[in-house]
Amino acid sequence: MGGPDGRLVSSSFCILLILVRFLVGHFLIIFAKLSYISAMTKLSVRHLLGIKNLNENDINTILDTATQFKEVINRPIKKVPSLRDITIANVFFENSTRTRLSFELAEKRLSADVVNFSASGSSVKKGETLLDTVNNILAMKVDMIVMRHSSPGAPHYLSSRIPANVVNAGDGTHEHPTQALLDAFSMKEKLGDLTGKKIAIIGDILHSRVALSNIFCLQKLGAEVMVCGPSTLIPKYLADLGVKIGHDVRQALQWCDVANVLRIQLERQQIKYFPSLREYSLYFGITKSMLDELDREIVLMHPGPINRGVELSSDAADSSHSIILNQVENGVAVRMAVLYLLAQQ
Ligand code: CP
Repeated sequence: MGGPDGRLVSSSFCILLILVRFLVGHFLIIFAKLSYISAMTKLSVRHLLGIKNLNENDINTILDTATQFKEVINRPIKKVPSLRDITIANVFFENSTRTRLSFELAEKRLSADVVNFSASGSSVKKGETLLDTVNNILAMKVDMIVMRHSSPGAPHYLSSRIPANVVNAGDGTHEHPTQALLDAFSMKEKLGDLTGKKIAIIGDILHSRVALSNIFCLQKLGAEVMVCGPSTLIPKYLADLGVKIGHDVRQALQWCDVANVLRIQLERQQIKYFPSLREYSLYFGITKSMLDELDREIVLMHPGPINRGVELSSDAADSSHSIILNQVENGVAVRMAVLYLLAQQ
């Protein structure tokens, strides 16, 4: 082994050893990355029906994934092939601007095929049931349903009867989970970790699906929540959810780091909950001067659509305190994260 042949064998062995070590190292790095991605892509649910059904890990997984998608949609080429060959139907039985367009853009940015359904102009008007309508859409080889419906629980009802993933895009006065997720994402962008942060939800709590989803989401992320509005617009059961309850909007603004202001939902109000919009605006409306007078900067949010001059003055909505359009921007990344993660289930 001491001659030239022996030296050749030992140097070949060294090269082989280096190669094996390189390949094993490379394999371990790839394995570690794959484990990380699969850890990032696990949700405990098959459907997104509400924030109530999610755990803290699910919420953080969605928000972390949304951070990556926000980076993607700010590139010159905003599209990724993640949901190629997946078909998604946006089934809307109630009006929407932000949620519907945001879901459609999120789906297209993920390269999914998209179909849109509106109850108005459909065979629902001829008496077709919700389940028949959705089963007919699914017969056209649709994989996922994003739905908005005026009846609380409609997406839950469907999810136990159809094979596709269901995403709740707002069910009556119950939950609006993607709104709460995009709100939490937007708050975290502004304030960092939400543990111990004080969030006031101000306005028509009784008719709001955003309020309930926000309460569940923010509490799971460790924030303190106050609801504030006329006592007629705050349901009694909220006291059992561990939120503070207030009726003085100036005190709520003094207390909070974030004021999330909700729309007065006249279309859901069958009786009068306050004497007039003018009086509501006088006692509960938020103006820019109220925000400027505070001894520290707070963040102003609103899920939209805004009733300008009722819950928010125009100068407040358009002020530097407001992150209302950032919320809308973040909605696309958050919905991309939700759809991407559910498609892995
Ligand atoms: N925030 C929200 O749900 O708005 P749209 O009703 O326009 O979808």
